[in-house]
This record gives sequence, structure tokens and C-alpha cells, in this order.
Amino acid sequence: MKPLIVANWKMNPSTLKGARLLFNSVKSGLKNIKNTEVVICPPFLYLPFLLKTKTDNLKPKLGAQDCFWEEKGAYTGEVSPKMLKNLGIEYVIIGHSERRALGETDEMINKKIKAAISAKLKSILCIGETAAERKNSKTFKVLKEQLKRDLSHLPTQSLNNLSIAYEPIWAIGTGNFCEPAKAKEVLFFLRKIRKANPILYGGSVNSQNARDYIKVGFQGLLVGGASLDAEEFVKLIKNVSKT
Ligand code: PGA
Repeated sequence: MKPLIVANWKMNPSTLKGARLLFNSVKSGLKNIKNTEVVICPPFLYLPFLLKTKTDNLKPKLGAQDCFWEEKGAYTGEVSPKMLKNLGIEYVIIGHSERRALGETDEMINKKIKAAISAKLKSILCIGETAAERKNSKTFKVLKEQLKRDLSHLPTQSLNNLSIAYEPIWAIGTGNFCEPAKAKEVLFFLRKIRKANPILYGGSVNSQNARDYIKVGFQGLLVGGASLDAEEFVKLIKNVSKT
């Protein structure tokens, strides 16, 4: 499998012009890189515009940062997996810790995963422990419980299109990334539970450390801050493609 590199733009940039510029700069930087799968997840409202700029088969692909669990109806402000699929979007991030911090529960995440799978979107489920949980040696327990709740009542064969992103909360947006050797311990633990699903790492990934995560066995990366700088992001992808 090619390493999967997912850019999470979060609530950036502030203008459509900025979004187009960033997308097109990444796109042209990737022209000769073949052995990675790159997915850009911009805010919802930029998706149709960026889809339009994608006039050829070249990377990157597009993903959403979230979705709702119902297909349609009276749900003000929500976007359904089916709408995303119908628009031509391939991927969706679900359960990011920034959403969990705003009140998203495992139960909601479980419903979103189910809905995304039935809409045939490729889902990236984010899980991760807090600094306090790591300090108290609860990392494995927390991750196991998150996985159990987020994926409950989902038959194994339905999970073909699921990747899991290990994102230690304390490493997100802090510059304090989880050392690849430490992250590898978690990778091995998660692999025992979910043998068939690709496992990605996220949390202060940059062009300098990206390759090390792939080298220890992660099948991809979820990149926040470093994906907002086209030059840095393309450099990161180039470094990964050398592994
Ligand atoms: P970061 O964000 O790369 O800025 O740490 C990662 C994420 O939130 O997915």
C-alpha cells in the first residue's frame, strides 16, 4: 500500500482565493511523485471549488473533516456522507480530538463511522490519549476503549475502507511530537487489535520527522499545521516517498 498522507486544514485558510492557491501549489509540487496517496481535507465550503480545479487524474484527492450520521432531513448545519459522496469526495476524517473536545462522543462517532461506511466513503478514525493518560500509563487502555466504542456493532467486513489515525492529543499542534520509537509501541498494540486496517500517525508531523513514522511501520500520516504551507507539505511528501 502507498503511504496515505492526509492534510487536515482545519478552519483554514480564510478565503477561497487562499484555499485555491494552497491547493494548486500542492498539486503542482506533486507532479512527479507517484508512490504516495495524498488527500486534502479543507473546510466543507471549499470542497466543490477545489473539486473543479481537479481537471485531471493527478493528486491530491479530497476529503471532508467531518460528516453527520443521517442521510438527509431537518438537521441544521449538518452535512451527510451521502452529500459528500455525491459531490465526488472520497475520504472523511471522523472523531478528531478537536471535535471530541467540543462534545462529540464515542456514540456519535460510532454513528458517523457507520453512516460514512454505508455511503462508501473512506473513513479516517482519529483516536488518542491525553498527556495525563499517557503519564499514568493508560494509553493502551484508552485507545482500546475508544476503538471498541467507536467501532461497536460494525461487522469486520464492513471496515475495509477504514484507516485509524493515532493522534496523541498532547502532540497535536504543539510541536511536541511523539517520538517515532514510542509511537511504534502504540502502532504494534493497535495492529494486534485491528490487523486489517492501515494505521496512520498524526501530531506535529513535519518534513523532518515524517519519514521516521513510515520507517517504523505507520502506513500514513495525518498532518495539520505543516499542510498549510505548500512548500513544507510537498517537502514532507517527497521525504515520505523516498522510504
Ligand atoms: P498538527 O495537527 O499536525 O498541527 O499537530 C494534526 C491534526 O490535528 O490532525
